[in-house]
Amino acid sequence: MIRQYLRRSGARPLASTLLLTGLLTSGFATSGQVGVVGETGYQQNCSACHMANGEGIPGAFPPLAESGFVAGDTREVLRVIAYGRAGMPAFGSELSQELLADIVIYIREHFNAIPTHLTAEDVQAVKVSSTARMARED
Ligand code: HEC
Repeated sequence: MIRQYLRRSGARPLASTLLLTGLLTSGFATSGQVGVVGETGYQQNCSACHMANGEGIPGAFPPLAESGFVAGDTREVLRVIAYGRAGMPAFGSELSQELLADIVIYIREHFNAIPTHLTAEDVQAVKVSSTARMARED
């Protein structure tokens, strides 16, 4: 039916453009899914202090954008987020491991342009090793 309509209205070029746009968008959706979840997670849980654009507030909340720390060892980044540090609240038992991973991917890729692969298992591994480390430090 759509085809007939298009043929009749001579809207073929438009149809191909729409089709192409659709393909491109759905292509991005597969890799972009994590980005959307991570972005939402970030905006809901972190942006109040670190700001929507990751720039933070000088003297109060450190920037996550163009940050050597965020761009560095993902395990250290995960540790701060999971366990908190000074004025930074702990999110380890608030957010799922998947969401923690997606948020770290988001702040590294979006604010620091570092392609990042992280899974819930990586978050779990950091939690296990941190528990051991904290037990040693006690
Ligand atoms: C209530 C305010 C607040 C919220 C909400 C918050 N943070 Fe923080 N964050 C801080 C503060 C304050 C520090 C600095 C802690 C310190 O001085 O050791 C910090 C530090 C950090 C650091 C270390 C930066 C560095 O350069 O050492 C990272 C990474 C981070 N936060 C990520 C996040 C993420 C991701 C979220 C959301 C899941 C989040 N923060 C939510 C206040 C907050």
